[in-house]
Amino acid sequence: MKRLLIVYHSRTGGTEQMVKAAADGAATVSNVAIEVLRASEAAPDAVLAADGYLFACPENLASMAGLMKEFFDRCYYPALERLNGRPYATMICAGSDGSIAAAQIARIATGWRLREISPPLIVCTHAQTPEEILRPKRIGSEDLARCRELGAAMAAGLEMGIF
Ligand SMILES: Cc1cc2nc3c(=O)[nH]c(=O)nc-3n(C[C@H](O)[C@H](O)[C@H](O)COP(=O)(O)O)c2cc1C
Repeated sequence: MKRLLIVYHSRTGGTEQMVKAAADGAATVSNVAIEVLRASEAAPDAVLAADGYLFACPENLASMAGLMKEFFDRCYYPALERLNGRPYATMICAGSDGSIAAAQIARIATGWRLREISPPLIVCTHAQTPEEILRPKRIGSEDLARCRELGAAMAAGLEMGIF
């Protein structure tokens, strides 16, 4: 059975809802095992054991969230040269941008020789004030549908062996 690993970080719940939607979408495909891990819990063994990856985190201070970076810092060298050619996609939850976090993850994935199967899926919450930014997020149904579709596409591609 193929394995899809979803690694994520979320502080105010937006990315977590996106991840749940993507995992629900992936679960509509049989014969693919889905593992969802917080970035702080994800270890190199889980990365090595997977056949495809979905990375998801907020953009914070024009960067991927620190705990997501820490996951890559911890796992990069133990997994280097051992993931070549495996498929991945990225989801970013952002206030108004998200492109910088997406580009950083793409660069790391290039180092790992992963194959991007779809452009980064960026959801902007449009939180502007400190109060809005710190408030729990609610992701809209259209954006959640995009996440569900991405999870389903990723799992279907793994199941059919097209990646
Ligand atoms: C310290 C901090 C820095 C942030 N910096 C950015 C940023 O550089 N660009 C952006 O688009 N959003 C930024 N945001 C907004 C978050 O990306 C947004 O609130 C997102 O919904 C957080 O995802 P989460 O709900 O999964 O934690 C920042 C939020 C915080 C708390």
